[in-house]
Order: sequence, then C-alpha cells, then structure tokens
Amino acid sequence: MTDLAHLSASIAEQIKKRQPFPVTTGIILGSGLGDFADGLTEKTVIPTSELDGYPVTSVIGHSGKVIFGKSNGVPVLAFQGRIHFYEGHDIRLTALPIWLMKHLGIRKVILTNAAGGLNKQFKVGDLMLISDHINFMFRNPLIGKNPDDFGPRFPDMSDAYSKDLRALAATVALDLKIGVQTGVYLGLTGPSYETPAEIEMFRLLGADAVGMSTVPEVIQAAHLGIQVLGISCITNMAAGITGQKLSHDEVTETGKLVQKKFTDLIKGILQKC
Ligand code: HPA
Repeated sequence: MTDLAHLSASIAEQIKKRQPFPVTTGIILGSGLGDFADGLTEKTVIPTSELDGYPVTSVIGHSGKVIFGKSNGVPVLAFQGRIHFYEGHDIRLTALPIWLMKHLGIRKVILTNAAGGLNKQFKVGDLMLISDHINFMFRNPLIGKNPDDFGPRFPDMSDAYSKDLRALAATVALDLKIGVQTGVYLGLTGPSYETPAEIEMFRLLGADAVGMSTVPEVIQAAHLGIQVLGISCITNMAAGITGQKLSHDEVTETGKLVQKKFTDLIKGILQKC
C-alpha cells in the first residue's frame, strides 16, 4: 500500500472535483445511524465505489457514500459507512476518511458508532458522549514513516476527544431535553463479540462501552489536528451484562429506534459548532 498521505490526496482530488461548497465539519455515521444523511438538503452524493483507490466495504447497515449536504443551512460532509479493521483492511486504511477530511479543509469531526454498554447505569438506546478511549485493538494507524508535513511523530492524546466539543454537545442535549451519558469507549478489532469474562475485565479497567471502530480514526485525527466529538449509541448491553445473546440485527434495529433523537442532537450540535 502507498502511504495514506498520498492515497488520500489522490482520492481527495477526485472528491474536490464534485464538491459543491466548502465544509469545515465532518461526520462519520456508525452502524444503523446512516439515516441522518437523508435529512440533509442540497446534497451531492458520491458513492465510494466511484472513487478510484477507495477500499470496498461490506458491512450491512454501512452503505459507502461520501455526502456533501446542509443541515439547517450548515454545510457538512458525511461519511455513510466506514472502513473496519475486521474486514481485513490495513489499520491505516481505517483512518482514510479522516485523511480525506484533512485534505478537504475539515477542522472538526463528529464520530458516531454503535457500541455495547458495560456501565450498568446505561440502557439500550442511550447516547454516550465519549470522554476518552482505551485501545484494545493494539494497532495504531500512525505506525510507519511519519508524514512530518502533516503531523507530529508522537501526537498528544490528552484531549483527543475535545472537552470543548463535549461541553457544547452536553449543552445542546440539555436544551433539547435529550438525556446523554458520558463515558470511556474501549475499541476492539472484532468481528466476534466479546465474551462475558472479557466484558467483566473491561468494566474493571474503566470502560463504559465497547465497539469495533473509532479508535484508529481518533488517533489519526489527533495526529492531523482535527478536533473530535465522539458519540456512541448504546445498541445493546455488552455480553454477559443481561445474559442475552448479541446480534448485529439488534445493533441496527436499535440504531433505527434512536434515529430521531440522534438526528436532532447532531443537527443541534452542527448549528453551534
Ligand atoms: N461489542 C462490540 N461492538 C459492538 C457491540 C458490542 O457489544 N455493540 C455494537 N457494536
């Protein structure tokens, strides 16, 4: 694989040719949360299959599209569908959307995902503002030669999930009377779900939610100086918490149930950021 700085620059050039207006905020829509893009106006939809060099993704509930649109007049670039490590891609590729956003001039990104809840105060359908993460993927998208023109060799991760954006999101949620949780996201490779014993260990380690994405994207965003707001939708309680079996259908179904409050929250945040 060529390095991500070059690959992403070439894909960004193809996107720029079809870009209708400038954008400074991006969003990646997680499993079952893709409908947010339906409500955008003045849309330009680019299927990722039309972008030379863009990896093919295959997860149900993750159609691959890059969408320029406006949310109540605010320009946004939405990625419907993500590149997951468990599909067999190089870990660096999972952060490609963040590189593309960098080339397109984006400074803030909202990363959303479906996650299993570990915190026993959480309920299925809760939205969680991510305060921090634990990288249990044991992979890092920055390994390799550092593109010094873009970011430092050793990026700081102490405000990787921007405190300012989190505070803004909490205020918007309060105004809209949407209850939100806050917590630590623990990222795993998947694709198997966790065992109950693993979940118990992660709870002891301080995780509130688990999922199979986001972590490499956040690391890449920290490297490229893009501010991150992370939001997890608790689509199920994690293995062993309720004794129920886990399925991807439950994940996408819960995504659909929370769609309205999720969309309202995102729209409200976009108005303010
Ligand atoms: N575990 C890992 N990833 C997930 C889960 C889960 O319980 N729910 C949604 N994504």
